[in-house]
Amino acid sequence: MKATAKAHTNIALIKYWGKRDESLILPMNNSLSLTLDGFYTTTTVEFKPDLTDDCFYLDDEAVVDTQYDRVSNFLKLIRNYAGKDNLFAEVHSTNHVPTAAGFASSASGFAALAAAAARALNLNIDDKTLSTLTRQGSGSACRSIYGGFVEWEKGEQADGSDSHAVPIAPANHWDIRVAAVVLSSNAKKVLSREGMKRTVETSPFYSSWVDSIPNDLNQIKDGIKNKDFEKVGAIAEMNCLKMHATTLAANPPFSYWHDTTMAVMHAVQELRESGISAYFTIDAGPNVKVLYLPGDENTLKQSLREIPGVHDVIVSKAGQGISYL
Ligand code: DP6
Repeated sequence: MKATAKAHTNIALIKYWGKRDESLILPMNNSLSLTLDGFYTTTTVEFKPDLTDDCFYLDDEAVVDTQYDRVSNFLKLIRNYAGKDNLFAEVHSTNHVPTAAGFASSASGFAALAAAAARALNLNIDDKTLSTLTRQGSGSACRSIYGGFVEWEKGEQADGSDSHAVPIAPANHWDIRVAAVVLSSNAKKVLSREGMKRTVETSPFYSSWVDSIPNDLNQIKDGIKNKDFEKVGAIAEMNCLKMHATTLAANPPFSYWHDTTMAVMHAVQELRESGISAYFTIDAGPNVKVLYLPGDENTLKQSLREIPGVHDVIVSKAGQGISYL
């Protein structure tokens, strides 16, 4: 009853921002992401009859805090699904997601955990069901089941049975790249879970955000299909700015941006004016991700590294979905 799975992280081009059900992790809006080759988690799950509780090791260290609770709660859910409530697991996870790069390791983390646990329990489920289960660990993780461009359909059912990811285009459809711009100072004050909750509850901009999503999605899917980089980039950048605008009007208001975040945003816009096609997106933290095409990689890397306050630039191609080792 042992299995190992590998899952890549993903970057949202149309953001998941806000839940309609906190405990089932059901989103208010559909979202769309690109799975990234460069950043991943590998996880081994072994169910052992002699264990009296779950244990979780991250990068070889035992985890006991709220991170442990989230993992153990998720194992409880998947055990329950398998009808094996009394079986505990030893979990070993290795993150190949540099924390400094500002990617939430929860996306690759919960996707790898779900896949390894399902296989260790001999669950014979399809990727759609796996994505539905993964969603309940961390929302954005449900998109990491698939490679390339992926949409998370919010679903309509109250029990969440139709809220899962679907593949839009595989990684080899289009060589679009992402540069993670690592800033020197990286404190994240408001966690995404807390930030989106506060925004849903208090921001007067929130309903406009939700209303604007269907059009953004239609446009970006059209852009992906036709490999129209300017279209995809412009929509992703605008969608990111809209998401962050909702936080400015929350009560109490907050922002994930630092001054270097803004310097990078401006630099990307200036690079565009000078003929380099690049667009930014930002998640619930200060770091910036820049979308670009392979021909611009060297110039872009160099320009971004020159911005004061930028610590590093890590580039990635599109990546594959879940695999088993
Ligand atoms: C800004 O998936 O980390 O990155 O479902 O509460 O675990 P929970 O939240 P999480 O939120 C990600 C938010 C985001 C946008 C996105 O990835 O779509």
